[in-house]
Amino acid sequence: MVTLEVDPHHAEVARGNLDRAGLGAVADVVLGPAVDSLEVLIAARPEPFDLVFIDADKQNNARYLAAALRLARPGSAIVVDNVVRGGAVVDPASADPNVQGTRAVLDLVRAEPRLTATALQTVGSKGWDGFVLALVRE
Ligand SMILES: C[S@@+](CC[C@H](N)C(=O)[O-])C[C@H]1O[C@@H](n2cnc3c(N)ncnc32)[C@H](O)[C@@H]1O
Repeated sequence: MVTLEVDPHHAEVARGNLDRAGLGAVADVVLGPAVDSLEVLIAARPEPFDLVFIDADKQNNARYLAAALRLARPGSAIVVDNVVRGGAVVDPASADPNVQGTRAVLDLVRAEPRLTATALQTVGSKGWDGFVLALVRE
């Protein structure tokens, strides 16, 4: 398992939680901007990932999905979190960069022939949102 984190404190908390869960030996917390860390990861040609969970700076979501496709294999699952954003994602007047980034990743999902995907809405204590679940085609 590899997790990418730009904030040193968050990385430290993540390492502590992974250790407490008994996963410290199998989890690699990589500190730095994910766009840069992904380039290093892709260059290392790791075994394909079975699951990619995208949940960081939403403006870069399309870049993260493109990188995830380079790290995946047929049958891999890719989850993109927070794609509904209280309905703002369908507000044509929204100039919110997080909404723009979400639309960009949804456009890429739609255009990408290697993906079969759906978006699911969620409502809970954190409000109204949702996620994309995409499978890389066999
Ligand atoms: C919503 S939280 C992730 C929560 C985590 N997925 C979980 O379920 O516990 C987003 C995290 O992405 C990190 N982040 C934001 N921008 C980033 C970037 N450019 N590169 C790497 N990590 C980033 C933030 O510091 C924050 O810890």
